[in-house]
Amino acid sequence: MGVLFSASQKEFELIRDEWLQAVHEIAQRGVFVGGAPVASFEAAFARGVGVTGAVGVGNGTDALLLALKALGVGPGDEVITAANTFIATVEAIHHTGARPVLVDCDPDTLLIDLEQVKRRVTSRTAAIVPVHLYGQMVDLSEFKPWADEHRIPIVEDCAQAAGARLGGKAAGSWGVMGCFSFYPDKNLGALGDGGGIVSSSDELLRTLRKLRNHGGETRYTHDIPGFNSRLDPIQAAALELKLRHLDAWSMHRRYVAKLYETYLAGAGAIVLPRHRDDESHVFHLYVVRVEADVRDALRKHLQKKGILTTVSYPAPVHLTPAFAFLGYGPGSFPVAEEAAGQILSLPMNIAVTESDVAAIAREIKSIVGTVHAG
Ligand SMILES: Cc1ncc(COP(=O)(O)O)c(C=O)c1O
Repeated sequence: MGVLFSASQKEFELIRDEWLQAVHEIAQRGVFVGGAPVASFEAAFARGVGVTGAVGVGNGTDALLLALKALGVGPGDEVITAANTFIATVEAIHHTGARPVLVDCDPDTLLIDLEQVKRRVTSRTAAIVPVHLYGQMVDLSEFKPWADEHRIPIVEDCAQAAGARLGGKAAGSWGVMGCFSFYPDKNLGALGDGGGIVSSSDELLRTLRKLRNHGGETRYTHDIPGFNSRLDPIQAAALELKLRHLDAWSMHRRYVAKLYETYLAGAGAIVLPRHRDDESHVFHLYVVRVEADVRDALRKHLQKKGILTTVSYPAPVHLTPAFAFLGYGPGSFPVAEEAAGQILSLPMNIAVTESDVAAIAREIKSIVGTVHAG
């Protein structure tokens, strides 16, 4: 057997004809940066999230950087986020000149611990960046009013959670801005790099449109120091086509998660991800936990059987060489540190079938054994 970790090629097959036609039209029109496909995708994406507007940018890391810059975050400020995120979240904070302040995560969901966030707030806190890790939304329903009361903006890192909704309200619409990555293997992925920021603040949207384009909305106007970080029209065309499938793809991912729960029941020493049984998890990744001394052997065995897995992420940010300078040593965030040794992402994509899951579960059980209830 062989089970791919990501199904970007299969997704491409579904949009191929219309996308090739769109690329053809872009080439004929000769507008290779910006233009109608970007505006059209931005409008469709904003509608889906339920916000006023979206601004396409070069990638998810830039989405976070530009969002923080739009808020005026800079040297002397602090921005709080999770220690167990992809490094990009912390890179974006760092490159504004602000200091990243990290906190640990909830042991069950591995989502940022909002009580710890509250305890780390100081007079220098300029923003809080909750990360909807693995596609599961952080429940901001009680935290948002608290942050509003303390006048601290929330910038959601939605890189892994396009299409997720909690209580009918989409990821990206809870904070003052939501930042998305359209990296190809994301659950809404382009055919190359891409990113986007959503907001319902006209003022922030205007600033973001300037920041992505050398500080001006039109050529050779430079109102503020900006960047060159624009979503490519051929990527925007692909994204708009894929967006039409997103809800169906999220449903499939949730179905695959249920299959894992069924087929992995009774597998010894495997901890399945905890989640709410609703649309607030789009399962960008399906991350189980297994004792650290078994994980690597299990990965190797699965790989031998053609089942590809990943570890997202092998080290929490504070233990990477890049961010050792922040001064958090080992032991600073015990939950994130323990989880990093145990997590394993199983194949999760729109092409995974029930027989794939059955076979994956069989191979996992052959290594970790089976426990019988009672
Ligand atoms: C949680 C998180 N934040 C930010 C990013 C950055 O996105 P990109 O790779 O598009 O720059 C990613 C994805 O790579 C991510 O998973």
